[in-house]
Amino acid sequence: MKLVAGNSNRPLAEAISAYLNVPLAKAQVRRFADMEVFVEIQENVRGEDTFIIQSTSFPTNDHLMELLIITDALRRASARRITAVIPYFGYARQDRKPAARTPISAKLVANIIAHAGVDRVLTLDLHAGQIQGFFDIPTDNLFAAPTLARDIKDHLDGGNRMVVSPDVGGVVRARALAKRIDAPLAIVDKRRERPGESEVMNIIGDVSGRSCILVDDIVDSGGTLVNAADALLANGAKEVYAYITHGVLSGGAVARIAGSRLKELVITDSIMPTEAVKVAHNIRVISIAQLMGEAIGRTATESSVSSLFD
Ligand code: R5P
Repeated sequence: MKLVAGNSNRPLAEAISAYLNVPLAKAQVRRFADMEVFVEIQENVRGEDTFIIQSTSFPTNDHLMELLIITDALRRASARRITAVIPYFGYARQDRKPAARTPISAKLVANIIAHAGVDRVLTLDLHAGQIQGFFDIPTDNLFAAPTLARDIKDHLDGGNRMVVSPDVGGVVRARALAKRIDAPLAIVDKRRERPGESEVMNIIGDVSGRSCILVDDIVDSGGTLVNAADALLANGAKEVYAYITHGVLSGGAVARIAGSRLKELVITDSIMPTEAVKVAHNIRVISIAQLMGEAIGRTATESSVSSLFD
C-alpha cells in the first residue's frame, strides 16, 4: 500500500500514516511561479494499491486540482488501484438545482474525479448520502458519529443530554447520534411566515434545563449554530454544545463562534484547523485519523468497511 498526501491537510495524512504504520510516499506537490500545480511521485508505485489523502477544502479549487493531478501522476506511473481519500468533499452542498439554470456542481466534481482515473472514493459524512450515487465508482461514505459519540460520553453528563438538529434537513443525522448516546431529540424549525419578515425559530421538543448538543455536518459561517444556540437558551436550555463533522469556518466564523453563547464547538480534523481555530477558547478539534486509517486498511485488505459502524 502507498499513501500519498496532497497539501490540504498534511497533519491528518501524517496521523493516518502513523496509525497504519505506513510512511507517506515521497512526492512533491508544488506550484510553478504562475501557481500551476506540479506533482512528482518520487518512488516506484507500479502495481501498488495507492491512497491519495486530500480534502477538497479551502482553497477548494486548488485542492481539487492537486487531487486530480496526483491521480494523473499515479495512473501514468502504473499504480494498480487509486483510492481518493477525501475526508471533506467540497462542493457537496451543490447537490441539486435550487433554481432554474443552476448547476449540480457536486455531480460535475464527481465526474471529473472519476474521469481523472480514481478507482474508488473514501469520504466522510457527505452533506447528502445520495452524493455517493454521483460517483460511478465504488464510494464509501464513513460516519464520524461513533467518534463524536465517544467524545460526548467522555465529556458531557449522561442524564441531562439532549441532541438537537439545527434544522429540519439534519434530523436523520441528529437522530442517529441521539440513538448512539441514548438521548432524546429536539429540532429547531426555522420559518419565515411571509417574504421580507425575519425567520422565527420554533423548538420542537422540551429543552428546558437540558444540556443541548447541536449536531450538523458542516459549520461554515457559524450563523446556523449561533442562532440555534440563542433560540435554545431562550427556550430554557441549561447550556448548548455543538458537534459538527466539518469545520469549514469561513470568513468571520471563528470570531462569531468565540463571541457566541455556545459553550463549546467540537469539530473533527477533516479540514486542517487554522491558527484561529486552534486558539479559540470554545472550539476543540478531535481527530478522525484512526477512523480514516482503519477504513484505508480494510479497503487494502478487501475487508468490510461498513462493519466499522455496527
Ligand atoms: C446546511 O444544509 C448544512 O448542513 C449546514 O447547516 C450549513 O452549511 C451551515 O452553514 P452556516 O454555518 O453558514 O450557517
